Amino acid sequence: KRTKIKALLELAPSETQEYTVMGWVRTFRNNQFVALNDGSTINNLQVVVPLGLVDDALLKRITTGASIKAQGKLVASLGKGQKVELNATTIEILGDSDPEKYPLQPKKHSLEFLREIAHLRFRTQTFSSVFRIRHALAFAVHQFFNEKGFVYLHTPIVTSSDAEGAGEMFRVTTLPLENAPKKEDGSIDYTQDFFGKSTNLTVSGQLEGELGATALGEIYTFGPTFRAENSNTTRHLAEFWMIEPEMAFNDIYDNMDLAEEFIQYLIKYVMEHNADDLAFLDNRLKEEEKSLPMDKRNEFGLIEKLQIVLNNKFERITYTEAIEILLASPAYKKKKFKYDVSWGIDLQSEHERYLVEKHFKKPVIVTGYPKDIKAFYMRQNDDGKTVAAMDILAPGIGEIVGGSQREERLDLLLARMAEVGIPSHEMEFYLDTRRFGSVPHSGFGLGFERMVLFVTGMTNIRDVIPFARTPKNCEF
Ligand code: 4AD
Ligand code: MG
Repeated sequence: KRTKIKALLELAPSETQEYTVMGWVRTFRNNQFVALNDGSTINNLQVVVPLGLVDDALLKRITTGASIKAQGKLVASLGKGQKVELNATTIEILGDSDPEKYPLQPKKHSLEFLREIAHLRFRTQTFSSVFRIRHALAFAVHQFFNEKGFVYLHTPIVTSSDAEGAGEMFRVTTLPLENAPKKEDGSIDYTQDFFGKSTNLTVSGQLEGELGATALGEIYTFGPTFRAENSNTTRHLAEFWMIEPEMAFNDIYDNMDLAEEFIQYLIKYVMEHNADDLAFLDNRLKEEEKSLPMDKRNEFGLIEKLQIVLNNKFERITYTEAIEILLASPAYKKKKFKYDVSWGIDLQSEHERYLVEKHFKKPVIVTGYPKDIKAFYMRQNDDGKTVAAMDILAPGIGEIVGGSQREERLDLLLARMAEVGIPSHEMEFYLDTRRFGSVPHSGFGLGFERMVLFVTGMTNIRDVIPFARTPKNCEF
C-alpha cells in the first residue's frame, strides 16, 4: 500500500515497518540520493539507494521527471531540513523520462518559460504550492459559508442576462454559422441563438443569486464567470471564478463586515493549513527581490503582509474621500499618475494601488461611488448622485471585491433601468423580487484568482489558475 510523502515525513523512524512510496524524481545525486515528490507536499522525501541495490542499467533510469516506486524503512536523516529518509530495499521505475528531452531541469525556470509549458508546470515547487493553496482556499470558502448557514446556489453558466450591463459577453449559439437566421438588413439574428433566445456565458451569478436570497435568506455562488474583454493585464482573465454571497435583510454595512470577515477567514485558513507552501512562496519572493533595486522591493514579506491583513481592521472611506486623498497626494502633484483624477472618474488601478500601498498600507473599502460608473442594480443614496457600492482594494492587487446594497425600491429600479436603457420586459423575473415582498439586501463578488494572487504573492493572474483563458492562452 502506498503512503503519501506528506504523511510519511511526519512519522517517526521504525526498525520494523516497511513503507511504499510513489512519485516523480526531482533530482538524483551521487547515484545514491533521490529527491522524490508526489505532490502531497512541497517537501521532497529523500530516498537512499544503497550501493549495489540495483544494477547500473536501472540506476541510469532514475532521472529528473521519471516516476518511481520505492519501498524501504524509514530512518533518521542526517541531512539538513529533514527528520527522516527512506532507506530503499526495492526500487522500481514506473515511467521513464528522457533527461535530454524533459523540459523541466533541476534548476530555476522563469515563470514566463513555465507559462509556455503550462501542461508540465504543476510539477514545479512553485506551481504545486500555488495549486495546493488554491484548493485550500476553495475548501475554506465552502466551510466559511456553511458555518454561517448560507445555501450554496448553483447559478447557470448559459444565460440570457447581462448582469453587469457592460456588454462583455461570450455569445453562446446553437446556430450553424453558415446558414444562421438573418435580419432584414442581412446581419445575423442573434435572438435566435438558443432555440429562439439570445444567450451568452454568464458574467456574474448575482441576479439569479438575488432570486435565491430573497427566499432562502442567505446564499452564495461559486463558479466560473466569463468576460469577453480583450484585456491583456496581469489581473484579468476571460474565464475566472467568482464567489458571490447574497443576503436578504442586510445593508451595505453588514455587507462590508461580511466581506472583511470572509477575507480574513480565508487567509487564516491557509496560514494554518498550508504553512509549508506559504513559507516556500515567501522565501521565493525574497530571493526574487534580491535582484531588484531597494525601492522596487516590497516593504513586507508575504507572510508579514498576510499577518497585517489579519491583525488590522480594513480602512473604510468614501469614494469622495478617496478622490480627495488622491488630489492631495505627492503622486498627483508630481504628475505621476497616467490618468487624471477628478470626482466622477472610475478609479484606475494606479489610483487604487496608491491608496492601499502608499497611503493606508492595508486593505481599503471604498463606498459611495458615483452611480454613473456602477451597475444599474445598486441602491441609490439620498444624495441622488452616488450608490451604495463597495469595492475592496488589496495591496499588490487593487480591486479584489466588488459589491453593493441592491436597489429594492421598484420605482427607483425601473427609473434607473430606463435611464441606462435596459428594457424592463427582459427583466420581469428580477423585478418580481421587488414586486412581491421586496426586502433590503446586499452582496458582493470576490474574484477567486485575485484572492489566490494575494495569498500566494504571485504577480500574474495566469499563474494562479490551472488553465488560463486570456486572449492569448486557449491551447488546452
Ligand atoms: O466588480 P465585478 O464586476 O462585480 C460583479 O460581477 C458583481 N455582480 C458582484 C456582486 O456584487 N455579486 O466583479 C467582482 C470581482 C472583482 O472585484 C474582481 O475581483 C473579479 O470579480 N473580476 C475579475 N477577476 C479576473 N478577471 C476578470 N476579468 C475579472 N473581472 C472581475
Ligand atoms: Mg468591479
